[in-house]
Amino acid sequence: MERRVLLICACGRREGFTYTMCSVAEHALKNDGWTVDTVFPIEMKIGHCTGCGSCEDGKGCVIDDDMESVYRSFHEAEIVLFCTPIHYSGVSSVIKTVIDRFQTLWYSSGKGPKYMAAMMCGGHEEPEFRGAMHVFKSLSITAGSEWLGELKIADTDRKDFSEVKKETENFIAGLIRSLK
Ligand SMILES: Cc1cc2nc3c(=O)[nH]c(=O)nc-3n(C[C@H](O)[C@H](O)[C@H](O)COP(=O)(O)O)c2cc1C
Repeated sequence: MERRVLLICACGRREGFTYTMCSVAEHALKNDGWTVDTVFPIEMKIGHCTGCGSCEDGKGCVIDDDMESVYRSFHEAEIVLFCTPIHYSGVSSVIKTVIDRFQTLWYSSGKGPKYMAAMMCGGHEEPEFRGAMHVFKSLSITAGSEWLGELKIADTDRKDFSEVKKETENFIAGLIRSLK
């Protein structure tokens, strides 16, 4: 049976560490036989949740934009894997915009994927990852998804891409092992 992952890559640019982590994860998961839907919210038309309350009827969001394809992949996925840089000790605004649009889950009974996980990177030698973790865990609880684990990469101001690649490969290998 096909096993699907939705990889939400909240890179702001394709030359950076976030994109590298996503590429490595996508490659490793595909090699293990997973079907991977990778989305780049920065390149999509995704509006902010206005809190209008229209989704309270359980029929989803009324905003007509590219979230439609993200919702579709989200509901087909066994795992949703988020990837974001740390911005001001929290998730980036790119991923937060997507996460807020999952307010639809608050009012739906079917809820989300079986598993969620996250990959994060920060430039500081000891980035504050707790803010980001609160956001991801809060979403996973709302979605009824089991939390699989998180990768926290620090010190990207000094690291090179090969170190980040290695850390990501190790993390995804562990994720895959835990699902066998
Ligand atoms: C707006 C902004 C805020 C940032 N805030 C933090 C921070 O609070 N802590 C930290 O460790 N790094 C912070 N950084 C650094 C990034 O997390 C780091 O450079 C990361 O590797 C960027 O990912 P990228 O290479 O995919 O762009 C910030 C960077 C930007 C652009």
